[in-house]
Amino acid sequence: MDQVVNDINAINEVEKQLLKDRLSRLVAGFQARLGPRSPGELFAARAPGRVNLIGEHTDYNDGWVLPIAITRDVLMVGAARDDERVRLYAMDLADEVAFDLAENAFDDRHTWSNYIRGVIDVLQRRGFTLRGMDIAFTGNVPRGGGLSSSAALEVAAVMLLKALCGLEIPPLEDIKMAQQAENEFVGVRCGIMDQFISRLGRRHHALLIDCRTLEYRQIPWPADDVQLLVVDTKVERGLAGSAYNQRRLECETGARILAEKLPHVKALRDVTEEQFAAQAALLDEVVRRRCAHVVGENSRTLAAAKALAAGDYAKLGRLMIASHESLRDLYEVSCRELDAVVEIALATEGVYGARMTGGGFGGCAIALVAAGALSRLAANLRREYPKVAGHLPGLLPTIAGDGAAVRPLAAWQEEVMGQ
Ligand code: GLA
Repeated sequence: MDQVVNDINAINEVEKQLLKDRLSRLVAGFQARLGPRSPGELFAARAPGRVNLIGEHTDYNDGWVLPIAITRDVLMVGAARDDERVRLYAMDLADEVAFDLAENAFDDRHTWSNYIRGVIDVLQRRGFTLRGMDIAFTGNVPRGGGLSSSAALEVAAVMLLKALCGLEIPPLEDIKMAQQAENEFVGVRCGIMDQFISRLGRRHHALLIDCRTLEYRQIPWPADDVQLLVVDTKVERGLAGSAYNQRRLECETGARILAEKLPHVKALRDVTEEQFAAQAALLDEVVRRRCAHVVGENSRTLAAAKALAAGDYAKLGRLMIASHESLRDLYEVSCRELDAVVEIALATEGVYGARMTGGGFGGCAIALVAAGALSRLAANLRREYPKVAGHLPGLLPTIAGDGAAVRPLAAWQEEVMGQ
C-alpha cells in the first residue's frame, strides 16, 4: 500500500486494471459454469460499496447523510433465457442455485442468493414481467465489513435485471426497490443511504442526501489536497442483529413522545437542537441519549456539507470527531476496536478527523488526512492497532467513485479492456 497511498492517479490506474481483470475472469467463470453465450447476449452491471463521511443513524429518522461511493464493487454478468429458470452463480464462493421464477423463496442454505431473490421478489410484486436468466457475480467489497456489500449486490441485481428484462425504471425507484428487498425479503430494517449512494454516487463527489424527500446535492470531494483512509477493524458486525432494530425503535419512541408536545414532529428530523433541549426531560434516559445523538448528528451533517463545499477540512474533521463521540457515548454503537482506530488516527499529525462509519459494532472507521500524512497514519495503525485488537487492520485508501451502471458487455469491454 505504501507505494500507492500517496498517488491518487496510481489508484485510478490500479483500479482500472483490476476492473479489467475481474470482468474477464467473471465472463470466463460465467461461460464455464452456466454455458457459452454469444457476447451480444451478455450484459454487465457494477454497483459500489460506500463509506459515510457523516450522518450516521440519521437515514431512518428522515434526516441527512453525506456518503461517497467507493471504488470496490459487485460486478455481475447475465443473459436472459427463453424459459422461466433462474440460475445464480456466486463465483467467489463457487456456489450456485437454480429455481423457477414462480418458486422464488427465501433460501436458508444459500443466504447470499437472498439479496438477488429479494430484488426478483420486489420486481414481481410491483407487477413487472421478468424473464428467466443466468447470472454470475463477483465482489471485492469486504463482506460483513460495514461497507455495504449487501446494498451493492442488491443494486447490481436491480440494474442487471432491468437490462435483461427490458424494464424502464427511474433511479429513485431502483433505490427504493433495492431497499425494499433488504427490508422485506432479507429482513433487515436498514435505511435508504446505502442503496442510494451505491446507485447515484459520483466520482470525486460526496452526496448530501435528504432521506425524507430523497433530494440530493453533489459536493465535490477533492482528490488531491486531502485523502480518506478506510480502516477495517476486521471485527465482523451483525447488522441483522437486534441492536440496530432496537435503536430504530428507541428513535421512533422518542419521536412519538416529542410529538405530543411538538405536533409538527413526524420523525426526529423535525426536532431542532433548541426544541430538543427544551423537551428532553420528557424522555427516559436511554431514549433521550439516542435522540440526542440523532438531533445533533443531523445538524453536524448539514454543517459538514457546508464545510466540505468550502474546503474547510479542519471544521469537517472536528465534526467527524464529534460524530464519533456521540455514536460512542450516546448512541452506543461503537466498540473497542473502532475507538482504538479513531484514537490512533487522532494522535497522528496531519489527521483532521476520524470516526466509525456505517452501522457500527465493528466494521470500518474512516480518517480524513492531509495529503502526505497517509503513510504516517498507515504506519501508526499497523504498529498500534494490533496491541488492542490482536490483529492488523485492513487499510483501504479510497477516492469517491461512481455509482452503479449497466451496459452490454461489449460496451464495458470497449471502455476498460480497450477492445
Ligand atoms: C447501516 C444501514 C444504513 C444506515 C447505517 C447507519 O449501514 O444499512 O441504512 O442506517 O447503518 O447510519
